[in-house]
Amino acid sequence: MRLSLSGQAPCLFIVPRTAEDDIAIRISNLNFWYGENKALEDINVEIPRKRITAIIGPSGCGKSTMLFCMNRMFDGIAGAKAEGKIEIGSRNILGKNINLIDLRRKVGMIFQKPTVFPFSIRENVTYGLKAAGIRDEDLLERSMLASLKKAALHDELKDRLDEPAENLSGGQQQRLCIARAIAMRPNVLLMDEPCSALDPIATMKIEDLMRGLREEFAVVIVTHNMQQAARVSDMTAFMWLGKLVEFGETERIFTNPSDPKTVSYVTGRVG
Ligand SMILES: Nc1ncnc2c1ncn2[C@@H]1O[C@H](COP(=O)(O)OP(=O)(O)O)[C@@H](O)[C@H]1O
Ligand SMILES: [Mg+2]
Repeated sequence: MRLSLSGQAPCLFIVPRTAEDDIAIRISNLNFWYGENKALEDINVEIPRKRITAIIGPSGCGKSTMLFCMNRMFDGIAGAKAEGKIEIGSRNILGKNINLIDLRRKVGMIFQKPTVFPFSIRENVTYGLKAAGIRDEDLLERSMLASLKKAALHDELKDRLDEPAENLSGGQQQRLCIARAIAMRPNVLLMDEPCSALDPIATMKIEDLMRGLREEFAVVIVTHNMQQAARVSDMTAFMWLGKLVEFGETERIFTNPSDPKTVSYVTGRVG
């Protein structure tokens, strides 16, 4: 429960919202290397639940690397190494004995180019559920339909569920990827420049969809489009040369940033 104290002295009966309940991802002292090349430098940030957090900053500053750390996408890149802590729930996902398949179900990822599988629309959405061992056809169908609804695709596609997903437009494919991730009931949805291959109308649909998704989980979006960050996000993280320079409410970052580098970037003087 969020209580407004507008102008009143805090009263003893009010229990403050515990930060603990509201944090989806807590990153502490995160450093990251690609071989000799350090890509992230001592990152500390708490990503809230039920909010959209945008990561902005010039090309090469480490935005994608930050996302890749949040679901260990870097595993498998030769020489890639992360140190520090990324706590999701009560677990440090950089620790040992982390089941990467489970982790990626709980922390879904949407890429710049839609990555639909060469199957039908229906099978794209049920794929992960089947891989997780769900066999009940009724349950699969219900989850599939619910995910398409949440991804604002149901009305458009309900009569085409057995068509190949590759027949869809780029924007529909991207929303299908979102439906596929939502079907796994994630805690966090990571999006790496999800609209950069889409036209303005398809982009608007994804942005509308994101606003609805934040009711259920944390959304983290990397975008090089500052207008998009300003339009959709609640929180903004500004990165520069592998460092997190500033993090705060989007409105403040865009109207009253405290760091001179953020000022230069959001006013378009650099980047
Ligand atoms: N697979 C990789 N191998 C080596 N260096 C990489 C790799 N991916 C990214 N980098 C380097 O890490 C830094 C951060 O890259 P990245 O996270 O992709 O930045 P952004 O998403 O902000 O453009 C850059 O210097 C980039 O060249
Ligand atoms: Mg990137």
